[in-house]
This record gives sequence, C-alpha cells and structure tokens, in this order.
Amino acid sequence: MNLWVSDVDPGMERLTEAEFKAVASRFKIYFEEFGLPLPAFPGKFQSRFEKQVEAVLRCKPAVFSFIFGVPDKSILKECQRLNIKAVGSATTLEEAVLLQDAGVDAIIASGSEPGGHKPSFLRPAVESLTMLDDLVQELRTGIRIPFVAAGGIVDGKKINTLMNAGADGVQLGTAFLACDEPGATATHRTLLLSDAIHHTVLSSCWTGRLGSMIENRLTTELISDAEFLPFPIQNSLTKPLKEMAAATGVPNMANYWCGQCRQDASLEKKNATSLLNQLVKEMESGI
Ligand SMILES: Cc1cc2nc3c(=O)[nH]c(=O)nc-3n(C[C@H](O)[C@H](O)[C@H](O)COP(=O)(O)O)c2cc1C
Repeated sequence: MNLWVSDVDPGMERLTEAEFKAVASRFKIYFEEFGLPLPAFPGKFQSRFEKQVEAVLRCKPAVFSFIFGVPDKSILKECQRLNIKAVGSATTLEEAVLLQDAGVDAIIASGSEPGGHKPSFLRPAVESLTMLDDLVQELRTGIRIPFVAAGGIVDGKKINTLMNAGADGVQLGTAFLACDEPGATATHRTLLLSDAIHHTVLSSCWTGRLGSMIENRLTTELISDAEFLPFPIQNSLTKPLKEMAAATGVPNMANYWCGQCRQDASLEKKNATSLLNQLVKEMESGI
C-alpha cells in the first residue's frame, strides 16, 4: 500500500479566492474551447494522510511505501511492531539519509526521470533533480539499507546497469502504464506507444506539483511555474479539462505522465505479464 505523506501543500492555507481567480483566469481560454465554466474557488482541502494511515495499519500490508515525506516516528514504530516493511522515497542523498535515520526498511531512489510527480520533500522538487545513475552512485556509498532504483527504466539493459551499479532492485511505472491493464486513457496510451515518449517535460501546470509528462498544450503555452496554484487546488482547477479531453478524445490536453527514458528505447503494446517476461529475458541475456 502506498500513501502520500504530504497531500496538501503548505501554501494552501494562505491561498485567497482572489489569488485562485487570478491563476484560473489564465486557463479561461481552454475552458471556453470546451464550453465549460471556470471552476469556482473550492475552498480549503484537508489532508487525508492520518485517516489513510489508520486504514493501512488496520490492513497490515506486507509493505507500506510512501512518498512526499517521512511519516511520524510513532507510525514507523507501529509498522515495525506489526511486521509491515516501511519503504520511503528519496530524490536526493539528503532525503535518503533522513529516511534511513527515521528507521525505514528500504528506499526508493527516485531519480529526476520517473513518470509522475517528483516526490521531493526537503527542498523544492525543482532543486532536487538528480539523474538516476548519479543518485544510485550516491546511495550506494551514502546509505546502509537496501534501495530500489526508479526512473526511466523500460528494458532489461537498464535494469542490469542499475543493479550492477549497486541498486538492490528496480521500480518501473511508465512501461506498465502503457500495458493493457492500468486503464490509462486511449490518448495517453497511444502517446506512450509512440515516439512521443521522447518528448517529455517537467511541469507543475496540471497539478501544482512538479511532474514528468509528455509535452502537451498547457506545458507549451503556460511556461511560468511561479503562477500555478499549490497542490491539490491546481489539480482540481484543471480536472474538468482532463475529464473533457478524455471524454471527447481531444489530444494534447492532459497530463500524460511519462518517465524520461533512453532515446533508443520504445514501448510496445502488450500486457503486464509479457512485459515482465520480456524484462527478465533481456536481463538474463545481458542485452
Ligand atoms: C501515473 C503515475 C502515477 C504514480 N503515482 C505514484 C504514487 O502515487 N506513489 C508512488 O510512490 N509512486 C508513484 N509513481 C511513481 C512510480 O511508483 C515509479 O517510481 C515511477 O513510475 C518510475 O519511473 P518510470 O515511470 O519512469 O518508470 C507514479 C508513476 C506514474 C507514471
């Protein structure tokens, strides 16, 4: 089971309706194109983390992994008592050391490449971008506990490179997102299976938190990150656009999450089992 330790940005508390409207007005043209009204100020958001943790502890999963922070010591102690392995995500050596000192069992080394949000928590994500190969080197000598390399991995060749460099495991997201099972929208999947995977950008424009996605109209036209709202209000502002784009098949109008993979790599249409078998085969043959 996986949770976001921080699911509401600190800036949310101070955000006024006027500030919301100022940013929302920059999105007016997109709403008008879909014939949608601009969303009203949704008010405050409450973090759901504490309640979610209660549920995790009740469920006692084998592994509780988390991003965007370090849970309270009491939560990690309770995981230990219940024999739940705690796994935290680090984007820098500094974050990894903090997680290790807090008592987690393993770390996800999240380089600058992973699809989806950058789970940084000590410094802003934009200041915590370390290429995965470098992060693996740093963690190999900088921490004592096992770590899993994540970011831009789509084939066995890259897995072998990272394991040989000292990673204890790997985590893939984008490659599985392109498979039959996860339910990405048709447009998203078509893009993942095309050369578009080599045109990724980092932007906060869709959700308010920095993430890696295939370039799209908003990332091209709204380049100043400073003017986006905090998470999750930016996400709720753009939600109707994403929903409408998915319902009508309008391309180029959603956060099509995608990791940054090697230029010679590509993804093929398949299911998760055949992807896994292919990765194992590639690893074993040492391609
Ligand atoms: C659409 C999407 C959503 C994700 N959501 C989460 C999440 O909620 N929690 C988490 O720990 N990691 C999340 N990740 C990150 C993955 O667990 C994984 O680390 C990452 O996808 C690896 O990089 P890759 O996509 O380049 O393979 C997400 C990734 C994607 C693509």
